Amino acid sequence: MGSRSALWRSGTLFSFRGPSTCNPIRPMSKRLLRTLGPEQLKGRRVLVRADLNVPLAGGVVTDDTRIRASLPTLEHLTSHGSAVILMSHLGRPKGGVDPTFSLAPVADRLQELLEVPVRFVPDTVGDAADAAVAGLRDGEVLLLENTRFLPGETANEEALARRLASYGSVYVNDAFGTAHRAHASTAGIAEAVKENGGVAVAGFLLERELAFLGDALARPDRPYLAIMGGAKISGKIDVVEALLPQVDRLLIGGAMANTFFLALGLEVGGSLVEDDRVEMARALMDRAGERLVLPVDCRVSERISGDATSRAVSRAEVAPTDIIGDIGPETESLYRELIQEARTVLWNGPMGVFELEPFASGTLAVARAVADRTDQGAVSVVGGGDSAAAAEAAGVSGRLTHISTGGGASLEFLSGAELPGVAVLSDEEG
Ligand code: ADP
Ligand code: 3PG
Ligand code: MG
Repeated sequence: MGSRSALWRSGTLFSFRGPSTCNPIRPMSKRLLRTLGPEQLKGRRVLVRADLNVPLAGGVVTDDTRIRASLPTLEHLTSHGSAVILMSHLGRPKGGVDPTFSLAPVADRLQELLEVPVRFVPDTVGDAADAAVAGLRDGEVLLLENTRFLPGETANEEALARRLASYGSVYVNDAFGTAHRAHASTAGIAEAVKENGGVAVAGFLLERELAFLGDALARPDRPYLAIMGGAKISGKIDVVEALLPQVDRLLIGGAMANTFFLALGLEVGGSLVEDDRVEMARALMDRAGERLVLPVDCRVSERISGDATSRAVSRAEVAPTDIIGDIGPETESLYRELIQEARTVLWNGPMGVFELEPFASGTLAVARAVADRTDQGAVSVVGGGDSAAAAEAAGVSGRLTHISTGGGASLEFLSGAELPGVAVLSDEEG
């Protein structure tokens, strides 16, 4: 806890590239919402882009994490007397109106969480939106309909960006989860607001994400340990490449480990592997040497299902009929010991098919080990939607330093890529 608040208090300087040695940290900083004084907020129309892309079932929000994560910025603005015009995408509608992707249920949930009136207009930049914006009062929030109902959104169309920008003089990007997309509501709009003489700043959530995924990992307390898992090595290779020169240890789990096993010449049976990545896995092992740690045993079964019976075997004893579904108990102990030595931990990707009880143990054990180490003062950062869900399932979410709200965005940032939604914000003055 101590490390969390210290870092958070000092977190005004941040880079807008992830901590890769290929793309060194830029000293340049972006303007933050927290630097705007009351006179810049009171009575102003403030445009906020949040990532309210949450799961829905039967028209009801089933996980409101992203809505809750947007509250600090919204509460700050409404309590300072701004009229907030809130924007988000939801899902991937094909550039046209699709009622299944309406933000209406999100407005309902937001209204329950926020103690100020939340209005919703089933329109994004048309006459109805114009009228709703005109009628908005200071201290209120108006949520516009899904920005992706307009084809100009994903095309980052200038005309759409200008239309949106006409609704306010201050733009706050708080959508970390969408900051890797150069869309009209994340990128073009900031240009347009700046051109109009307005300011484009990072909201509290975006600031916090960049502080932890950026600053904290760029200048980690050592030992710095990363744990990578999940389904595929291919989707995360850029992150592995970027992390390798920086970390003191890189623990591998999940199906990703299977491709490394193949590179070691081990039997993996019917496990999920990427044959075309074996050479790459071998090259990574050569480069990383002892810093790269692979599972020593695994939990296998002849099928991966909720009612399967899994058994633990050494990694050298996997049978041709086996499927690897999780790391094994010896690996759990080994990883726990290594996590106990770390002062900074980055975790991305489950150790097994944690959604199914017979293969959940490794992921839950790692989650608990990271939480225990965090209790002892280490900084822990979790990226990836499934890893966040696993932390929740393990009941340790509240004990980790930072759980990112971004999936693809956190991976891109960690691989050293520039996030367009951040790059376009106003530069810090002086
Ligand atoms: P995150 O969202 O945290 O970045 P990923 O999306 O990369 O994680 O991977 C999560 C998925 O990986 C989960 O659905 C999990 O079931 C799967 N997975 C983990 N280990 C294995 C395995 N050994 N075999 C098949 N799938 C696995
Ligand atoms: C996410 O859920 O990762 C973000 O909201 C971005 O969504 P997208 O991948 O559809 O752009
Ligand atoms: Mg995932």
